[in-house]
Amino acid sequence: MTTPSLLILAGDGIGPEVMAEVRRVIDWFGDRRGLAFDVSEDLVGGAAWEVHGTPLTDATMAKAQAVDAVLLGAVGGPKYDDLDFSVKPERGLLRLRKEMDLFANLRPAQCFDALADFSSLKRDVVAGLDIMIVRELTSGVYFGEPRGIVTENNERVGINTQRYTESEIARVARSAFELARRRGNKVCSMEKANVMESGVLWRQVVQEIHDAEYPDVELSHMYADAGAMQLTRWPKQFDVIVTDNLFGDLLSDLAAMLTGSLGMLPSASLGAPMANGRPKALYEPVHGSAPDIAGQGKANPIACILSFAMALRYSFDQGAEADRLEAAVQGVLAQGLRTPDLMGPEGGTPVGTSGMGDAILQALDASLAA
Ligand code: IPM
Ligand code: MG
Repeated sequence: MTTPSLLILAGDGIGPEVMAEVRRVIDWFGDRRGLAFDVSEDLVGGAAWEVHGTPLTDATMAKAQAVDAVLLGAVGGPKYDDLDFSVKPERGLLRLRKEMDLFANLRPAQCFDALADFSSLKRDVVAGLDIMIVRELTSGVYFGEPRGIVTENNERVGINTQRYTESEIARVARSAFELARRRGNKVCSMEKANVMESGVLWRQVVQEIHDAEYPDVELSHMYADAGAMQLTRWPKQFDVIVTDNLFGDLLSDLAAMLTGSLGMLPSASLGAPMANGRPKALYEPVHGSAPDIAGQGKANPIACILSFAMALRYSFDQGAEADRLEAAVQGVLAQGLRTPDLMGPEGGTPVGTSGMGDAILQALDASLAA
């Protein structure tokens, strides 16, 4: 058995500081659970641009293609606002998604009991919430051609194209149905079939895949605007939501806030299986680079740590160890430890980034003693 390989791309803003805590967690699993990883690190985003003049070098891209999984921190920041589109930090991330063909982006929105009062919605609306958004990640308006800013009739015109092939819709639909079978067995597909042809095709293809391959899974369809409304009205009606790249971007931020803090939510971006049977995979927190608090040791590392838990589950078949890590995080929250983003009116014990990491490592130790 060769040691599985991980490439860490910590990126910008709070990326490096939250990733430092993930490194400690990775080392813990190596030392205490015999799960050694061959870890390498490289640059992405603004950090790569500063050194190489590009947000992702070809060499880094090649490394990402070669490893078993990529862990990414965050990219971007106001410093880079005026850069040309082609070298913006976000292009590094988009290139990874596109070239690794990570078409299924899994974004769980789970409400931790200890944080249920922290949501802007009432406790009974969010307590126990556990939904999964499956966002198509490699197509749609993010990548469609033509695109650009052109001049027509003496004025500027901004152009982007929403485009989906049926195979692109079918493969992400299958990912959603497969996941649903291991959860609540329900999928709700969201598009705008009332105004967009790509939405009409989306709805048809999802229904066809369902009828032919997953008739046992309960399927519903919703317009994405109504879906946004239903997500805030009664989110527990959903189990798995499958949607396109742009709607998924919006709806996953909305779902994230239901849980109280963006600092809690991990994600997995998965592609087709590699030769070793593992899917191509990149794991990253849903939150951004939070430049306003970067470098101050205040950032919440939980979303990034839970992204590693997703890696244990989806890349390395270590579901029980993923459960262990998730339980450690829940335990620490139940003890009342709070990074500033989690500090609500009910108070708690304030901790910084590394303090939260310390507590999670202690909870992991305690899980062995139990
Ligand atoms: C996300 C982010 C990215 C996106 C940005 C950073 C390119 O918002 O992962 O949701 O729009 O996909
Ligand atoms: Mg987003």
